[in-house]
Parts: sequence; structure tokens; C-alpha cells
Amino acid sequence: MEEISPGLENVYIKYTELTYIDGNKGIMRYRGYDINELAQKSSFEAVSYLMLFGKFPDAAELKEFRDVINKNLPMPDYLKTILKALPEESDALGMLQTLLSARASEELNYQYNRANDRKKIPEMLGQVLSMVANIYRVKSGNSIIDPEPHGTYAETFLRACFGDVAKDTVKAMDSALILYMDHEIPASTTAALVTASTLSDMYSALASAVTALRGPLHGGAAEGAYRQFLEIGSPENVDKWFNDNILSGKRRLVGFGHRVYRTYDPRLKTFKKYADLLATTEELKNILATAKELEQAGVKAFGARGIYTNTDFYSGIVFRAMGFPVDMFTTLFGLSRVSGILAHITEYVETQERLIRPRAIYRGPEERKLDNN
Ligand code: ACO
Repeated sequence: MEEISPGLENVYIKYTELTYIDGNKGIMRYRGYDINELAQKSSFEAVSYLMLFGKFPDAAELKEFRDVINKNLPMPDYLKTILKALPEESDALGMLQTLLSARASEELNYQYNRANDRKKIPEMLGQVLSMVANIYRVKSGNSIIDPEPHGTYAETFLRACFGDVAKDTVKAMDSALILYMDHEIPASTTAALVTASTLSDMYSALASAVTALRGPLHGGAAEGAYRQFLEIGSPENVDKWFNDNILSGKRRLVGFGHRVYRTYDPRLKTFKKYADLLATTEELKNILATAKELEQAGVKAFGARGIYTNTDFYSGIVFRAMGFPVDMFTTLFGLSRVSGILAHITEYVETQERLIRPRAIYRGPEERKLDNN
């Protein structure tokens, strides 16, 4: 008998050499390397290269990869015009969707070609950096710019947004970009794979991923978790809020639970470290203290069922401490995911390409006829 797997739980649709997750032990590795070690010791560009090419770049390869990114920082004029035309209060991720879809219109008669597509990926990294930095700038009332290249991708991005930035902030951004780069095939990457499996172009696949990232069950959780802390207001209010909203069954605790993890999300360790380091204002210290209190209540209530803190619980505090408003969090997640998504779609198209086309079991009416009158 035919059966469905709700939410495609435990359905495997590809082999991968990219990301390994052990959800019971809380382990996550990119091509065999522990993600927290990569976040501490490497750079976004080097890890992107590792994901795409299977090895770390040597100095010349890293320089070339960075040069291609930097050459592709300026957005085409028509994208600037589109971005200017969108209202300032637009949803940031919706703006990114719009820019990616518009950019896909340049992909005429696209045909997959390994050499071209591998070359194209650093070009896309440059373009998306500019899109996200300029979305932030437009939303905060600033002009659209062509970002100037600086030492690393993280620094180039932050300087395009804020001008001067502290060293710790650049390191935190670099780590966040690495930690969020890939996560096997969550909803967003799956959406990209579905699009790529039709042999559509990479900008269209990326736009599909961004669309799926938007919901509160996935990419929107960092924003949801942070808004939850704001709503609670201070650590003393946690118990009552938790009883009234979560234990009562009215709402889910955002930043908790995961389809794959039955323990703490391993990425938390580094995000928590940067939250402790960067939350220096009274306001952020209070948010962080509230978050820690809420985490304890959540683990006490749900830990026994394998529902623990996920990475989005603390990542928003880190992004806020960098200076980003809450409504940019999901878009920053999107920026981090670009190389992971593109690595997955190229891996799929190169090694296992088959159109992704599942089935649905029909449960509607039997055959009927239209009335004659
Ligand atoms: N708060 C309270 N209960 C929860 C939570 C939570 N955060 N997460 C799961 N549960 C409970 C559900 O109520 C359900 O209970 P039941 O069996 O008694 O009905 C059970 O756990 C299973 O829940 P499902 O939704 O079936 O599990 P699924 O694997 O689909 O959920 C998800 C994963 C969507 C992430 C879920 O844990 C959730 O909604 N979390 C809150 C949103 C969130 O933090 N999302 C970020 C995910 S990480 C990321 O995208 C980077």
C-alpha cells in the first residue's frame, strides 16, 4: 500500500560529501572537519572553497577566489533601480528574493556546465554580498553603494553596512557565515535542489531556497526567538511567561527543537561564545540573561523528549550586537547559506542528477460529470 512520509521525514534524496550530522550526539562536520573548529580557525572564503572543491585552497587559490568575489561586488544598475523602487519597510528577505529573481532573468538559455558553474559561484558570492549589504543600507535610509573589498568576505560585508567595524565583530561575522553555511538539506536547500533538478539556472535555484528560508519554522526562527526575549522583557518574567505561553500549549518555544537534533545543536557553542563577548550594552546584557533563563526552563520542560536549544536561539543576539536590526536576521542567514546551497546543487547535478518529482496519493472525489445546463 502506498504511504506518505509527512514532512518527508527520514526520506533521503541524495548522497553528499558535504555535511555530516549526528543528531543524537550533536555532531556536525563539513567534509569531515568539526564546524566549531572551522568557525574558530578558518575563513568563510576558505570554507566555501573547501565545500565547493573538496579541499582547502592554497594561498594562490584563495587569492584568486577572493579576487573573483571582489570583482563581482558591484550590482548591475537595473538591480539598483529595482532595489530603490521597493519601499524601505519591505521584508528584507522578500527584497533578496526579488533581486535574485531579477538577476536570474540574465541567465538566457542556461545550460549546466561544470567548469562554468564552478567559476560562477564566487561571482554569485560577490553579487549576493552586495545585495544583502544594500538591502540593509536601503532599509536604514542609506544610499546604495558598490562595496569596497577589504581583507575578508566578512569584513567587506560589515564595512559595506556600517563603515568601521571592530575586530571581534568581524571574527563573529566570519564565524556566523561559516556556522550557517550548510546544514545538509533543510527545507531551503531542498527547494533549491528541486529547482536545480529541472536543470534551471543557479540564481533561480537560490531564489527558491530564499523563499523557503523565510518561514518561522526555518530561517525566521532567529528573529522569532529574539522577539520572544523582547516580549518577556527580563529574566524575572521568564517563569510566568513560560507557564502562560509554552507550558499551557498556546505557543511553541522558538529556538527550540529540530527535525534532526535530539540534543543541543552543536553550532550553539560558538554563537553563545560570541553572544557573551559582544552583548556589552545594558539592553543586550538583559536580553542575554533572559535568553539564558528561558533556555533553562525550556531544557527542563522539553529535554527529556529530545527537544533542545537550536542555533537560532542565540544567533539573533550576536547579529543584534553587531548592529543589525531584528528584521535583517533571516537575510543574514540567507547570505551565509549561499555557498552551501550552491555546493549541494552542483554536487547533485554533477553526480546524481534526476528530476525531483514525488507523488501525492489522490483522496478526492471519484470521477464525476459536469452538468449539461
Ligand atoms: N516548543 C514546544 N514543543 C515543540 C517544539 C518547540 N519548539 N518543537 C517540537 N515540539 C513538540 C511538538 O509540539 C510535537 O509534540 P506532539 O508530538 O506532542 O504533538 C513534537 O515536539 C514534534 O514536533 P514536530 O513539529 O512534529 O517536529 P518537527 O521535526 O517537524 O519540528 C521544528 C521541527 C519545526 C523545528 C520544531 O521543533 C519547531 O517548531 N521549533 C520552533 C521553531 C524553531 O526554532 N525553528 C528553527 C529550526 S532550526 C533552523 O531552521 C536553523
